[in-house]
Amino acid sequence: MTLRAGIFGYPLGHSISPAFQQAAFDHLGIDAIYEAWETPPEKLGHAVASLRSGDFMGANVTVPHKQAVQQHLDTIEPLAASIGAVNTIVRDDSQLVGHNTDAYGFIQSLKREAKFEPTGKRVVLIGSGGAARAAAYGLAQEDIGSLVIANRTLGNAVMLAEEMSNQMTDVRASSLESESLESHCAVADLIVNTTSIGMLHGPAEGQSPILEEFIPGDCLVYDIVYNPEVTPLLKAARRPGAQTLGGLPMLVYQGAAAFELWTGQPAPIEIMFTAAKKALES
Ligand code: ATR
Repeated sequence: MTLRAGIFGYPLGHSISPAFQQAAFDHLGIDAIYEAWETPPEKLGHAVASLRSGDFMGANVTVPHKQAVQQHLDTIEPLAASIGAVNTIVRDDSQLVGHNTDAYGFIQSLKREAKFEPTGKRVVLIGSGGAARAAAYGLAQEDIGSLVIANRTLGNAVMLAEEMSNQMTDVRASSLESESLESHCAVADLIVNTTSIGMLHGPAEGQSPILEEFIPGDCLVYDIVYNPEVTPLLKAARRPGAQTLGGLPMLVYQGAAAFELWTGQPAPIEIMFTAAKKALES
């Protein structure tokens, strides 16, 4: 019996998940296929329901379905419920359980790829959308020292900061241009971009979310955008000598966590990295 998994998204042309998930199944000799299921919003409910039968292990969920998919599931894990987004569905008999492995992927990349230990650190987080929420909850679980949430629309940053103040004591909101953001960046240990600014073919291609002058040379700058590999933000960060981390590790680690939930086996992380890089290059 060939098991099945796949990814729901719309559009899906850019997804490299099929390449690295299939490589992991093949490497471990698991008889499974991983498919790209391009699903428009009006067909999501029907598509998710089809996971309840047959040989499905579960699925990944990406833009724009991470919030809407929740109404089609039986249970949402507590972390995913707090973040308000599901990126992984696990089938347990006929039950569908929603997980969020983005927070895990975000933190594992910091620790394993950048050798950055978040506990006690001062963090500036750019963005207030779904990716920012996953990063903020992941950082809160690691007991960071302080969090500044900076966003184009200040009101969205204020709302997320208020919510995160239930998880940590030192959290505040900022606009992207303010002088106070410059002073927060000056003492930051970690600056993270969770917006799509700088993404290849995106509406803000070629742009950096913050001014280069804001970036100190002694911090880590982490951009969750993975294409291009070196975004305008990371380019800017390298000039004063800051350490940089791109978005590919987060993508691979969130996928590895999903793989482990479906199969119960440790994910072959190096195999997944190699396949992801190859897929991205082509
Ligand atoms: P995701 O779920 O991928 O995080 P999202 O929920 O649409 O996507 O959130 C996008 C985030 O990127 C928001 O913080 C958004 O800022 P606003 O709250 O002001 O909308 C930010 N963002 C997207 N494009 C941007 C741009 N061109 N300039 C500045 N911020 C941008």
